Amino acid sequence: MIARLWLLIGVLASPLVQADPLKFPAKMSIYGQECGSCHVPYPPSLLGRGEWQQITNQLDQHFGVNASLDEKTRQRIHDYLQHNSSPAPRAMAAKGQLPRITQSPWYKREHRNIGPNALKVLKANSMSSCQVCHGITE
Ligand code: HEC
Ligand code: HEC
Repeated sequence: MIARLWLLIGVLASPLVQADPLKFPAKMSIYGQECGSCHVPYPPSLLGRGEWQQITNQLDQHFGVNASLDEKTRQRIHDYLQHNSSPAPRAMAAKGQLPRITQSPWYKREHRNIGPNALKVLKANSMSSCQVCHGITE
């Protein structure tokens, strides 16, 4: 309890949250270029095969934006994600909804001490901006 409280205070007070760096796919890869222009290129292992499939199948309706790609590029990214995804689903999204890493049970547990104020202090748009708190290694 005390440790949690300190984490919370730390998160609110410090401009740089002490989170472990995450390994993201290279910015220069095809995935990094196409799927890392609006947000970080999320690590493929953080969603399951079927979940990535859902995402690459409806890029024209991608969380409120159109992220469509030409078919050849879409297929390459699809293959890359399928090969590197988690075999089991991870996000447990409601039926008909696109899966989100940030809605996954493990994710909510890891980030349970981070409130909306922390995002304000850090000037992060949302919890989807992993790079604001986690250093990035490629
Ligand atoms: C035109 C901008 C744009 C492009 C290009 C784009 N996205 Fe997104 N993506 C978004 C937006 C906006 C969100 C919602 C972010 C939020 O709610 O904070 C999002 C969210 C996501 C999420 C859920 C993040 C979470 O909250 O857990 C995943 C996964 C994702 N995108 C994957 C991809 C993949 C894979 C590609 C490449 C095929 C891609 N995105 C390309 C704009 C884009
Ligand atoms: C507002 C700050 C913040 C944001 C934004 C954030 N995290 Fe975290 N994250 C933390 C903190 C703090 C911890 C707990 C300390 C730790 O273990 O690194 C954590 C823990 C984790 C962990 C477990 C520990 C580890 O490093 O393996 C993972 C995985 C993770 N975050 C992934 C993500 C991903 C993916 C995103 C973006 C979709 C994200 N985080 C966004 C602050 C943040």
